[in-house]
Order: sequence, then C-alpha cells, then structure tokens
Amino acid sequence: MTKGLTAAAALLMAGMIAHPALADDADTAVQHRQDVMNVAGASMGAIGCFMKGDCALPAEVLVRNAKAIAFVGEMSVPAFEVNTTDSMADTTALPAIWENWETFEGGLKAMTEAANELAVASAEADRGAMGPAVKKLGGTCKECHDNFRE
Ligand code: HEC
Repeated sequence: MTKGLTAAAALLMAGMIAHPALADDADTAVQHRQDVMNVAGASMGAIGCFMKGDCALPAEVLVRNAKAIAFVGEMSVPAFEVNTTDSMADTTALPAIWENWETFEGGLKAMTEAANELAVASAEADRGAMGPAVKKLGGTCKECHDNFRE
C-alpha cells in the first residue's frame, strides 16, 4: 500500500518535473498570489470573529494569525512581481501595480508592519488593546484594494 502510494507520488513528481509549464505561467502566478492573499483573508476572518465577540480565541491563536498576515505581506512581494497585465488570466489585480511598483510594495510593507504591531497587541487577547491595531491593519488592506484592485 505504502509502496504503491510512493510509486504513484514519484510518477506524479516526475510528471511535474517533465512538464513544468503545463498551466499557463500567468494563470499559475495569479493562482499563487490569490492563494497567498486568501491566507490573509482567513486570518483576518478569525481576528474579526474574535473582535466581534463571536469566537473565543486564545491569545496564542490571535498572535499567530497576526503573524501569518505579516508573513503574507512578505510573501506577496515575490508573488505579485509577475506582471500579468497583458495576459488573459482571471485576476482582479490592476495594471497600476506594475506601473507604481514602489507604492504597491510600500503598501505590502505597511501591511506587514501593522500585522506585526497587532501580534504584539494581541499578547493578552484583550480586545481593547487590539482594537486600534486591527483598525490600522484593516486600513492597509482597504487602501491597497481601493487603489490596485478592480
Ligand atoms: C499592497 C496591496 C495589498 C494589500 C496591502 C492587501 N492586498 Fe489583498 N489583494 C491585493 C490584490 C492586488 C489582489 C488581487 C489579486 C488577483 O486577483 O490577482 C488582492 C486580493 C485579495 C483577496 C482575494 C483573493 C482571491 O482569491 O481572489 C483577499 C481575500 C485579500 N486580498 C485579502 C487581503 C487582506 C485581509 C489584507 C490585509 C490584511 C490584504 N488583502 C492586503 C492587494 C493587496
């Protein structure tokens, strides 16, 4: 059983290596950056649920979700470097990203900084202490989405 699975996995891997460009490069880039952004969305969802009083989450979970968002900010830099302006890829990213890359990258840095601040503010799972940091972080998402997303 295990042997069969390993052989199947090896075949799959060999296939991936032999055909690295099966999917269109732009589609792959879009899929990846949307996956990365969805991690931030999921973590913001957990934090928002806690802030509304709908979920009881321990400090450790809150801190890790904030850190996950900080990491998304870092991962997004290489993830968004691929310019998909002239592709047919199904994306809501605007060409403005690559026309104003420094501003866009600055937005990702602001997101990472605000998320790291939230991680610190979440240490006691105290809504009062977290409130301003959550607001600031949410503002970084909104600002970039308003400017760089359809
Ligand atoms: C500096 C810019 C920037 C920041 C900051 C940013 N985003 Fe995004 N986000 C984008 C862009 C651009 C897209 C569109 C990606 C695409 O469709 O190719 C996107 C897409 C998304 C999506 C949809 C992914 C999908 O499947 O289509 C979610 C969810 C998301 N962002 C959540 C967040 C959250 C939560 C934050 C803040 C914690 C955040 N983003 C901060 C630029 C940003």
